[in-house]
Amino acid sequence: MQKYKILIDTDPGVDDAMAILMAHDRADVLGLSVAAGNVGLNYTVANALKLVDVIGAQTPVYAGCATPLVHAAADAAAVHGSDGFGDTGYTPSTRKAQSEHAALAILRASHEHAGKLVLVALAPLTNVALALKLDPSLPQRVAKFVVMGGAVTGRGNYGTVPAEFNIGFDPEAAHVVFSSWPHFTLVDWEATVRHGLDFERFEAMLDKGDARAQFYASITQKTRAWSRERGRPKLLIADALAMAVALEPDIVLREEERHVAVELDGRLTRGATVVDWENRLGERANARIVLDVDQSRFEALLASAVGAR
Ligand code: BDR
Ligand code: CA
Repeated sequence: MQKYKILIDTDPGVDDAMAILMAHDRADVLGLSVAAGNVGLNYTVANALKLVDVIGAQTPVYAGCATPLVHAAADAAAVHGSDGFGDTGYTPSTRKAQSEHAALAILRASHEHAGKLVLVALAPLTNVALALKLDPSLPQRVAKFVVMGGAVTGRGNYGTVPAEFNIGFDPEAAHVVFSSWPHFTLVDWEATVRHGLDFERFEAMLDKGDARAQFYASITQKTRAWSRERGRPKLLIADALAMAVALEPDIVLREEERHVAVELDGRLTRGATVVDWENRLGERANARIVLDVDQSRFEALLASAVGAR
């Protein structure tokens, strides 16, 4: 299998955690550039460092933006725990984040691995937007850009009805990215809902895994309970789905090329990803929207990532 050079922009977060495990299992991970999102930056950075320890890797962690570009936004601690990792009281990593800012690390990696870099964004797009503003030529050096974000027919999970968390947390950043990145792959919340995981099967998989599985089981205990209490029929791990698409592009079974823009205003619609399904505006398609993937291959990647082979 081809080994990509992957840089992950992330806000761990329990579903980020699974995606990061998957990436380390299959690819060369150049670094984790970290944003605020699911919880505050102090927690997302600490969680990234801890997860790298659990993996037994030396992946550098770069702290990025602590707030959205313009407006403050509510976090997702209710889903991920107030520390973003299920409030387990884990022993923190003794390692520290690098001194380089996440946005600068993204730019540096794009130069060092020009044409080979796969950038996977699993967080609000604050760091990526900042990098783009610092250097608008960034997309020319990135081989592939995969974004977990949006709700492409308006069935969101955050704030206004149609907003999804990563876009709704920092719509201005998403606007900067979507309006200037020529072409990216979008894995949205609605695809995540279509690719939910059976709770019992997922937990049986964790039981068979190694130390990574044990750690993942502990940090997701609260999220799994929360999901069940809310009556969700399946466990949803959005960032893992996006990472599966980044790692194995041919896992995609159905996709559409469309123009996508971000709504910045609107009493009921701020943060919506507006997809021009009928090409009414005549704008060039900027997004490859992933609609369906091979579920069994997706689940095999998850199992492998936690050592449950
Ligand atoms: C996205 O929002 C965050 O809460 C998750 O980590 C994921 O990136 C799903 O909407
Ligand atoms: Ca995330």
